[in-house]
Amino acid sequence: MSNPSTGDSSGDSIENLSQENRHFPPSPAFAAQANAKSDLYAHAEKDRLAFWEEQARELTWDKSWETVLEWNSPYAKWFVGGKINASVNALDRHVAAGRGDRVAFHFEGEPGDTRTITYAQMLADVSKAAHALTQIGIKAGDRVAIYMPMIPEAAVAMLACARIGAVHSVVFGGFSADALLSRIQDADAKLVITADGGFRKGAAFALKPAVDEALKGKHNVEKVLVVKRTGQETAWNSDRDIWWHELVDSQSSEHTPEFFDSEHPLFILYTSGTTAKPKGIFHTTGGYLTQAAYTHRVVFDIKPEKDVYWCTADVGWITGHSYVVYGPLINGATQVMYEGTPDTPHKGRMFEIVAKYGVTILYTAPTLIRTWMKWGDEFPKAHKLSSLRLLGSVGEPINPEAWMWYREVIGANNCPIVDTWWQTETGAIMISPLPGVTSTKPGSAMKAIPGISAVVVDDNANPVPNGHGGFLILDKPWPSMLRGVWGEDERYKETYWSRFKGIYFAGDGAKLDDEGAIWLMGRVDDVMNVSGHRISTTEVESALVSHEAVAEAAVVGAADEMTGQGIVAFVILRGGIPHAGGEELVKELRAHVTKEIGAIARPRQIMVVAELPKTRSGKIMRRLLKDVAENRAVGDATTLADPNVMKLISEGLNSSKDED
Ligand code: WT7
Repeated sequence: MSNPSTGDSSGDSIENLSQENRHFPPSPAFAAQANAKSDLYAHAEKDRLAFWEEQARELTWDKSWETVLEWNSPYAKWFVGGKINASVNALDRHVAAGRGDRVAFHFEGEPGDTRTITYAQMLADVSKAAHALTQIGIKAGDRVAIYMPMIPEAAVAMLACARIGAVHSVVFGGFSADALLSRIQDADAKLVITADGGFRKGAAFALKPAVDEALKGKHNVEKVLVVKRTGQETAWNSDRDIWWHELVDSQSSEHTPEFFDSEHPLFILYTSGTTAKPKGIFHTTGGYLTQAAYTHRVVFDIKPEKDVYWCTADVGWITGHSYVVYGPLINGATQVMYEGTPDTPHKGRMFEIVAKYGVTILYTAPTLIRTWMKWGDEFPKAHKLSSLRLLGSVGEPINPEAWMWYREVIGANNCPIVDTWWQTETGAIMISPLPGVTSTKPGSAMKAIPGISAVVVDDNANPVPNGHGGFLILDKPWPSMLRGVWGEDERYKETYWSRFKGIYFAGDGAKLDDEGAIWLMGRVDDVMNVSGHRISTTEVESALVSHEAVAEAAVVGAADEMTGQGIVAFVILRGGIPHAGGEELVKELRAHVTKEIGAIARPRQIMVVAELPKTRSGKIMRRLLKDVAENRAVGDATTLADPNVMKLISEGLNSSKDED
């Protein structure tokens, strides 16, 4: 192990600096009722493929598969020869079993309008939309771009595509016309489904003008189907544009589905790489649906008759695909869908929604949890959150302190937390506690779920022993794995299968603690090299967030003549802590990091800022902070959620020189 105090380097690809000794086992009552019990690990291990076949049998197939897996690395085919329809699994089978009256979505618009949509209603809506798509010439295999606010029609549009075998490509509604056009072009979409606009931050925003702007470019889009959401004035091209309500509402609500090959493409979803051209990650049907439904069942412990489940992700992200649309609907869950922002019209809006619908399972991102911490405890405390029984986190490492806050303030010390690691590419959860089994540790995703294999390795692909850091790899194929990068086979092989020949590696660093639990350590590209020590951004950030004054932190390695790189930290303070120059506080924070994880990780410089640069999905863009830390002009910031943030940060810095 490394010894920060003497400066000896461990030689690990990433150092293991932090220690966490807290454990939180599930309560006996939770464990007793859990969907997944501890025997599931051994059961899956005994015969992995038979295990996945069992999970696949939970779905409705028109024809069973002949071969469970054909694996020619890096190409996988799952449930080969099977025939299946995604929308039948999400909807028809519940209605056929007499569950048509169950609520599928409690929709809450940002202005406060609400809709309650049952499974029977969803099926009718999807059937109508499927007829409409067919009527305008969409066929199986055609690509459809969906550019929508977070409203039920977004899910209806996705399922209608799936129903007729068309491939959806959802483009997050916050993306620009340029981003939309490049995705339309890359997938060669034939149709765009959009809305006039949606509601965010207390106002109507427009979407249709961005579609009009995008379609000035080169493309093969024939029609644009437009949902009326806001009623705002909308420019119209009558050769091309069709109102959703005019075309869809009058269609028959009965639709006979066709069944597609298990490996039929279901969707493309672009990962917004922070620099390179986005990659069209594409997923197929049978394996994807199997793992989405299975993980939703065992990780979220869903009890469809009782639970009210709320995943706060937008359908524009993979989380919205797997854990709003496919997983929960296949499992017959009742969900909350919210259109707007968390602070509209007040900072307690989301807690108000939890109380209003009696939400039992909440799945959200560390960025939001830390934002709630920053706003202060009075907002969650003003609402009755006692319906909650399980909490989930996804998207970034969750700092132990944020984890504890989530547990105490949101979960009243009463809810298991599942920190779920996965990616757009993996399609579904890969590493997570099982809530009724795992004794969790704040900040750790713990271990691969039953059926999945994840290993932490060194530079030569050898597994690292406990107590060491390295690269997180997935060494066995899994049902919901990406099947490729749309139209870019070389890029698929190069990006994911070349760092370690024939093994999947997608860029995350991780460590095993002394008990073998997995800790995600951020992207390996962000790892800092300080005097030969390879230090993860995550560990230093977590050490900072463990100070009572800090809500959020981002650290980067900036060029340093003495040490190679020096650690520069940007911190946001918690609600109630004054943002003043605070030289004292900066000193205290540096000492705090030294105490928590060692002198080698002590930041060279700490700057108190009001905001951090984040992507639209909430990930911190450390690359831009590195530009600031190295006194460079800030690079490509087009994927920033808030374009003003970098200006604010740079301005703030001129007035705070904290080095001592
Ligand atoms: C990357 C994937 C998976 C849905 C949302 C993000 C990071 C994701 C965790 C977690 C630490 C996490 C990784 C991963 N990440 N979940 N629980 N702990 N890091 O999907 O946009 O494809 O991003 O998000 O770096 O590689 P995505």
